[in-house]
Amino acid sequence: MGSIASAPAITDRFVGIDVNPEYVTLARQSHPRLKQIGDWICAPVEQCVFEPASFDLIHAALLLEYVEPSVVLPLVAEWLAPQGALSIVLQLPGGDAQISETGSSSLQLLSGRMRLVPPERLCALAAAEGLIVRSTTQIPLARGKSFWFGTFSRRA
Ligand SMILES: C[S@@+](CC[C@H](N)C(=O)[O-])C[C@H]1O[C@@H](n2cnc3c(N)ncnc32)[C@H](O)[C@@H]1O
Repeated sequence: MGSIASAPAITDRFVGIDVNPEYVTLARQSHPRLKQIGDWICAPVEQCVFEPASFDLIHAALLLEYVEPSVVLPLVAEWLAPQGALSIVLQLPGGDAQISETGSSSLQLLSGRMRLVPPERLCALAAAEGLIVRSTTQIPLARGKSFWFGTFSRRA
C-alpha cells in the first residue's frame, strides 16, 4: 500500500503489501532503489500488524475492491500518522473491462473476486474512522472505464 513514488532521500521507511507473491516479487524487482528502506510483505492486508500512527502516507490503489472495506479502513486509519495522508483509487462502474487486461494469469484469477466500492460508501466508512475527504477527482480511461481518486486526512 505504500507509495512507490517515495524517494529514499526523503523517506525513512517504505512498506509494500500484496497477498500475491507474484506481485510482490515483481514490485520488488521493479523498484531496486527502495531496497535500503523497503519492506515487501506478502500477506493479506487484514492480517498485517503495524504500530499505530506509523505511516505518513498510505496509498491503496484498486485494493478495496478485493477486501472488505469496513475491515480495512479501521486498520488503515489506525496506521496513519496524525498529519498523514491516505490516498485511494477506486474503479468506477462502466466500461467494458472490469480489470486491467495485462495478460497476467493472477490478475485474471482476481477478476471474479472484484466488488466495486461506491465512493460514497468509502467516504462514509472513512468519516466513521475520523478521516475527512481532502480531494476527489475522476480519471477517465480507455474503453469507457474510469477511476476515482480521493485523498483523506485526520479530522483536526
Ligand atoms: C487490481 S490489483 C491492483 C494492484 C496495484 N495496487 C495497482 O494499482 O496496480 C489488486 C491487488 O490487490 C491484491 N489483493 C487482493 N486481496 C488482497 C488482500 N487481502 N491483501 C493484500 N492484497 C490483496 C491483489 O493480489 C492484487 O495485486
